Parts: sequence; C-alpha cells; structure tokens
Amino acid sequence: MYKIGIIDKMNIKGINLLNEYKDFECELVTDLSHQNLLSQIPKYDGIAIRRGKIDKEILDKSPKLKVIARHGVGYDSIDIKTLKEKNSTLLVTDDTTSTSPAEHIMFSIINIYKGLTMFDEMVRVGDFHKALHLDIKNNFELFNKKILIVGFGRIGKKLIKRCLGFDMEVLVYDPYVDSSMIKSMNGRKIQNLEDALREADIISLSTPLTNETKNLITLKEMKIMKKNSIIINAARGGIVNEKDLNYALDNNIIAFAGIDVFEVEPPDSSNPLLKNKKVLLSPHAATFTKECLEDMSLETAQNLIDFFENKIEKNKIVSL
Ligand SMILES: NC(=O)c1ccc[n+]([C@@H]2O[C@H](COP(=O)([O-])OP(=O)(O)OC[C@H]3O[C@@H](n4cnc5c(N)ncnc54)[C@H](O)[C@@H]3O)[C@@H](O)[C@H]2O)c1
Repeated sequence: MYKIGIIDKMNIKGINLLNEYKDFECELVTDLSHQNLLSQIPKYDGIAIRRGKIDKEILDKSPKLKVIARHGVGYDSIDIKTLKEKNSTLLVTDDTTSTSPAEHIMFSIINIYKGLTMFDEMVRVGDFHKALHLDIKNNFELFNKKILIVGFGRIGKKLIKRCLGFDMEVLVYDPYVDSSMIKSMNGRKIQNLEDALREADIISLSTPLTNETKNLITLKEMKIMKKNSIIINAARGGIVNEKDLNYALDNNIIAFAGIDVFEVEPPDSSNPLLKNKKVLLSPHAATFTKECLEDMSLETAQNLIDFFENKIEKNKIVSL
C-alpha cells in the first residue's frame, strides 16, 4: 500500500478515483500552513497537490516522497532544485488545463473591448440611456486587431484558434517554439519582444513564472506599447510587474488590463490594482469551469496511479 496525501480539496471525481484505487491509502489535507505540511508530508509516498507551498525544508524531511502530482501545469510553488536532488518525480496535467484558460483570456479581452462591466453597472444604477451619449472611444471590435501571445504552449495554441475565429492577426513571441510550427497555425513568430510590443493591440501572457519571465513586462515595456493597448495576465503573478502596471494605467501609458493572477495571492487589501477601475480582476479562476475542474482532478489522480503502475506518459513528467 502507498500512502497518498491529497493536499487541498479538489473535485470529488479525482478524490474518488484515488480513494478507490486498490494500492492507495489516501488522506485529505486541508490545512495548508507550512507547519502542518511539514508535519504531514513526510508520511506520504506520493501527493496530489492543488495549493500549498512545498519548500526545501519539507522535502528534506520527506525521504519517502517519490512523486508530486500537480493539479495543474504551473509548479513555481515547488522547490524543484531539491526535488531533483532527491530524485523524486514531478507530474503535471496536460491537455485538461488549457481550454478553460484560453477561453478565460478570450472572454477577458471581449469584456474589456466591449465595456461589459461598465454597461452592467449603468443598467443596475438606472443610467440606461447614459451609454447613448458616452464618448465611446475605449470599446473596440476584435476584427483586424493584433494580439501578441507571449508563450506558445498548450494555452497559447488554444488561444490562437479562438483569436483567428474573430479575424484577429496573431503575433507570437516564444523563443523556444519553431517559426514553422507557429506559421502552420497561422501565427507570425516575432523574434524580438520589443518589436512585438510596439505592434500589438493586445498582449496576453501564457508562460510559466521563471527567472527569465519574472518582470518580463515592466514600465519600460509598457512605455513601448500602444497607448490604447491592453494586457491580459492569466499565467502567473509577477510576470507583469503589478506596481508598474498600476502606474501605467493611472498615467494613460496603456489602456486596460485583465488580471487573474497576483504576485501575492490573495492580494493584500492595500494592492492598488484592487481599486483601479482600468483592471478586470478575477481570483486565479481561469480554470474554474465544471469541465476543467472535473477533468483536472481526474487527470491528477490518474497521473499518480499511472506513476505507481509504471506507465506514466512522458509528457506528464517535468524534466527537472
Ligand atoms: N490562471 C490559471 O488558472 C492558469 C491555468 C493554467 C495555466 N496557468 C499558467 O499558464 C502557464 C502556461 O500554461 P501552458 O499549459 O500553456 O504551459 P506550457 O508549458 O504548455 O507553455 C508555456 C510556453 O511558454 C514558453 N516560454 C517559456 N519561457 C518563455 C519566455 N521567456 N518567453 C516567451 N515564452 C516562453 C515555453 O516555450 C512554452 O511554449 C503555466 O505555466 C501556468 O503558470 C495559469
């Protein structure tokens, strides 16, 4: 029997799959404090983890831990250097985690371009006719607009199809993806980020958070962008510098932003973005659809089972 920790509640379908598997004895851990994880994780052979930080101290105290299965694709909350030294395996979900985020990005763009939140408020407060006399200069058509997709992995590839469906032009910045692949999907590879920022109306981030992508978009980059451009960050907080973003919005350097992820989650109540009307906010919820949450939990559970049955697919294993 393997002892499995389910770290943070996930959809019941995945929990049931783990509980029903013959070789697993599972426990659900909902207290995600460092102190609790430090006391619980050492007893597990494997964990499925949705939220919670796994640092060096926890890993050093967990010699039994053979595998961590992330409920999702990002793993910036896990100390991968120590995991590698321990020869443990890190698994991520694959295709189940990209459709909903791509749709979320698309709908953030649409919401911002069509002023939907503003219109909703007008109707609710009795300002129905106000829209007639508004100087509409911040609502746009998507038709013929240029979107820059930064990071052309699972989400980027789903996003491009949706953008092309709206007759948009798609620029792609991803130094690790061949231009032929991008061309075959009707995008245009841009070698230099600054050139792309200058050209694009919409910038959407879909890269992991790494040393290379942290602060990829700061005030310097925003100053290169068009004044009416918008930024969507549904990847990870910190890729777009929050302080700089707030400044750029307040000073009309760029027009609007859609932010699903924050440098600190939940954001501190003093975070100025919470009061900034030029940002559409969501609580790290790009995967929050019925289908995505069910499928992610099932895939996470199946990944753990496949690992212990020695039949895990290579694309689920993060090369550390
Ligand atoms: N908001 C959410 O709920 C949510 C949901 C899913 C994923 N995410 C985030 O979105 C990220 C992307 O997800 P994915 O499934 O598409 O990942 P992926 O690994 O399939 O793709 C990431 C892409 O980013 C590219 N990349 C890496 N460094 C880059 C750089 N410096 N500049 C440009 N491109 C770079 C890679 O080459 C790769 O093609 C994840 O790492 C995760 O952090 C967030």
